[in-house]
Amino acid sequence: MNTRVLTGITTSGTPHLGNYVGAIRPAIAASRRANVDAFFFLADYHALIKCDDPARIVRSRLEIAATWLACGLDPQRVTFYRQSDIPEIPELTWLLTCVASKGLMNRAHAYKAAVDANAARGEDADAGINLGLYSYPVLMAADILLFNAQQVPVGRDQVQHIEMTRDIGLRFNHLYGAAWRQVSGRDDDPFVLPEAVLEERVAMLPGLDGRKMSKSYDNTIPLFGPAKELKDAIARIVTDSRAPGEAKDPDSSSLFAIYRAFANENETLGFHNALLHGMAWGEAKQKLFALIDVELSPAREKYHTLMSRPDEIEETLRAGAAKARMLATPFVMRLRETVGLGALVSPAPQPLPHRGGGAQNQARQVSTSPLVGEVETRSAAEEGRSRKRARIASFRDGEGFRFRIFAADGEELLLSRAFDDPKAAGDCMRALLALDAVPVMESLDDTRYALVMGGERVAVSPAYADAPSRDAAIEKLRWALDSLQD
Ligand code: TRP
Repeated sequence: MNTRVLTGITTSGTPHLGNYVGAIRPAIAASRRANVDAFFFLADYHALIKCDDPARIVRSRLEIAATWLACGLDPQRVTFYRQSDIPEIPELTWLLTCVASKGLMNRAHAYKAAVDANAARGEDADAGINLGLYSYPVLMAADILLFNAQQVPVGRDQVQHIEMTRDIGLRFNHLYGAAWRQVSGRDDDPFVLPEAVLEERVAMLPGLDGRKMSKSYDNTIPLFGPAKELKDAIARIVTDSRAPGEAKDPDSSSLFAIYRAFANENETLGFHNALLHGMAWGEAKQKLFALIDVELSPAREKYHTLMSRPDEIEETLRAGAAKARMLATPFVMRLRETVGLGALVSPAPQPLPHRGGGAQNQARQVSTSPLVGEVETRSAAEEGRSRKRARIASFRDGEGFRFRIFAADGEELLLSRAFDDPKAAGDCMRALLALDAVPVMESLDDTRYALVMGGERVAVSPAYADAPSRDAAIEKLRWALDSLQD
């Protein structure tokens, strides 16, 4: 089975060159490796903790989404979504909040730093600290545990949060493992405990002044500004005052460090030598600009096109959320049952087609419709047990071997493509039910959607009246797939 790799990007700023070299470029490269299922998301709930300027959140979400897409993130291949589009995240956050120990949160670096800053100013320890900051690690644990991520690539400052995630997940597994096994019929634990992955090889990029490139030092080089802006920023990189012709020390120069982050081995060697042999700083800056510009300019163009089409980005993010929720919705449903918040009758009933949900409706139907009287004689509990389940049925037609998926009420939800042999059809059905690979719902138009697995369109829906009915059908398919898994 593939390794699940997940990471979030807080949407409170504009990406700069340091983000590109340290996070974006390596993450996209990693997502292209075989045997990896990558999950990337915009951590916009996290952004609210430190930013109460709605316009900035809006702009940052757009800029960050456009940046990742422009840099080559393939939303077909990875699951790319917005945290706030996944209601299961705050829901799981609460379940985890109720097992996380308060003492653990007291030890979080970000919270402690805020308390220390208050102490230094002689203020009350908790002055100006919101509960969001305090329980930040629980929200982050929900992000990670919801998708059972095995690896979480993060910067050094986030490693403690991954340790806390493990701690919270372990505690939940310990408290609820037995209940989970009973509810799910599986023999594992509810949560996989994740590992932090530190990219030791990607050097930290220095900023204009030689310190780490960071917005808080105001020493950043913008990623997708106009080429002129890039040129001007590079001109401002601080160097020593050695004149042209004088030997320079490449290894103490941030200009060289930035160059190296974009160059191959040969180019790096050549640049290193040229500095040793007296290349002027001005010439070095021109070379650096040319090198970065070659790498960035195609993406820059794509970025500006994307920024002018926010509707396309919105659609990409929504499709990503639908894909993520294929996993999240059934999982949280099981977790609810695990902690005792499931339906009173089990499995959760779905409305039957020919009557409303409640007992009162049934009583009314008995008196007005003798045709359904026979069914009405059953008690609600009996109904729960005898309720029809979703079905998957294979068959053969003139074109080959296919299957259909039906909801519990008998409605046809999907028709597969024709496979050449029954084994191929069977394998596809099994892969779908195992939910190991992430099936993607792709809307074909406002009335129909297709199910895509491993890049291939394997089934299509019937035509619905409009987009909301289509989306309701997608939701229904989620339920059906979940009950088929049991
Ligand atoms: N806290 C992370 C940061 O500021 C962003 C983040 C939120 C994250 N949720 C996550 C990272 C889950 C990895 C996994 O960098």
